[in-house]
Amino acid sequence: MSKFITFEGMDGAGKSTHLNWFADAFRQRGLDVVVTREPGGTKLGEQLREMLLNQSMSIGTEALLMFAARLEHVEQVIKPSLGMGKWVISDRFSDASFAYQGSGRGLDWSKLKQLEEWVHGDLQPDLTLFFDVPVEVARQRLASNVSLDRFEQEQVEFFERVREGYHRRIRENPQRYVVIDGAQTMNEVKLILEKIVISL
Ligand SMILES: Nc1ncnc2c1ncn2[C@@H]1O[C@H](COP(=O)(O)OP(=O)(O)OP(=O)(O)O)[C@@H](O)[C@H]1O
Ligand SMILES: [Mg+2]
Repeated sequence: MSKFITFEGMDGAGKSTHLNWFADAFRQRGLDVVVTREPGGTKLGEQLREMLLNQSMSIGTEALLMFAARLEHVEQVIKPSLGMGKWVISDRFSDASFAYQGSGRGLDWSKLKQLEEWVHGDLQPDLTLFFDVPVEVARQRLASNVSLDRFEQEQVEFFERVREGYHRRIRENPQRYVVIDGAQTMNEVKLILEKIVISL
């Protein structure tokens, strides 16, 4: 049975650090795994990502473009791959829109729920790994980056709201998530993820 797994958490939480070896661990067990990301994952989606990360725009536009990119991603990549029996592992998905555009920027959750229903009402991740870190830890990790995108440049309060948004989302549907304490060392996080690989 194919599975759709997403990695979530704020900027600097450690998602990308672990995603590729996590996917390889399933490949080594003979599974066909597609690694992808949001915003992005398709040619058009990557163009939208470029705009979303770099151009200022109204909150509504930001949410609509995120979900526009997501619709392409769902239809062109995620559903076809799952249909072929592949596993799909995505660096972010809709939880990020609720956390960033919803809680972070203040857009109504009801609007986001409508978009979610439209774009993937019949599809949710089988499992979401939420990398939870205190805002200060995440920011310290990003401090050495030479250039920060439009989201990474936001203030501490924004990220506190984003983190709370993720927790709200988890409270609404706890069985879909595994919460990982991302403030641990990379090795400690890796050990937890290895156990998850085995359990899956
Ligand atoms: N457990 C950890 N301990 C210390 N540093 C870490 C840990 N995990 C990741 N890092 C470092 O923190 C930085 C950010 O990690 P990473 O790029 O994986 O975050 P991310 O969740 O993908 O962030 P973004 O949403 O911005 O892509 C990297 O420099 C990475 O090496
Ligand atoms: Mg990343």
